[in-house]
Amino acid sequence: MAELNLVLLGPPGSGKGTQGERLQADLRLPYYATGDILRAAVREQTALGRTAKQYMDRGDLVPDQVIVGVIAERIDSPDAADGFILDGFPRTIPQAEALDLELRNLGRSLSGVFLVDVSDQEVTRRLGGRRTCVENGHVFHVEFNPSARDGVCDLDGSALVVRDDDEPEVIAKRLATYHAKTEPLIEYYDRQSLLRRTDGAAAPEQVEEDLRRTLATLKLEADEAI
Ligand code: AP5
Repeated sequence: MAELNLVLLGPPGSGKGTQGERLQADLRLPYYATGDILRAAVREQTALGRTAKQYMDRGDLVPDQVIVGVIAERIDSPDAADGFILDGFPRTIPQAEALDLELRNLGRSLSGVFLVDVSDQEVTRRLGGRRTCVENGHVFHVEFNPSARDGVCDLDGSALVVRDDDEPEVIAKRLATYHAKTEPLIEYYDRQSLLRRTDGAAAPEQVEEDLRRTLATLKLEADEAI
């Protein structure tokens, strides 16, 4: 298959970041996670970061026009010539339409959208126990995926902290935002026959295995279509 342009879709805490890191290692494609990009901008106190922080801290989405340019610039870069993995984008119908338009202008299209689905109850459990490393955003969980040393990242030795938006009242707001603004994308991509569902409630290794199987099917279908 010529190129692999993938989107990871799902509620907050469904495991998109966990699986995105694994897929990236497997596929050797650039991985663009808008949450990570925005948190880096907040840390570096750029204009983007200053705008984004007020929305992120209260569990709202940053405005579409702010984030669309950030992603358009990346998928139009030479790094993404063989494909890309998007995590956390698109998150609204206007973002999805902007992505379609951008890809169409480049003579490209999406290969597949992987929905990693979990219940609201599971999201609350996962985000309540998540610990994230301050340097590179590596993700752990106090119960499901603990680091070897308490409070220290296994991968780069930096401190593990609770993300500002993983406080209980912000989690509830993020879930409400997901249902109102992001969930309609499931139907949007289903209608385009791009949606592939995965049960995100399974163990991380099982989810990874499911995604690999789905990916293999996707490649097979694309090869047959050539
Ligand atoms: P973002 O960082 O994208 O947050 P999110 O979508 O809410 O996703 P998370 O990073 O919280 O979770 P995840 O699905 O990656 O799960 P993870 O792998 O960490 O966005 C943050 C904010 O930025 C947004 O609220 C918004 O303000 C803004 N933003 C970003 N993109 C935007 C856009 N396009 N438009 C507008 N605004 C935007 O896993 C969670 C926990 O569970 C971890 O502890 C992990 O170890 C554990 N875990 C993972 N998988 C499993 C498993 N299978 N079983 C048990 N535990 C597991």
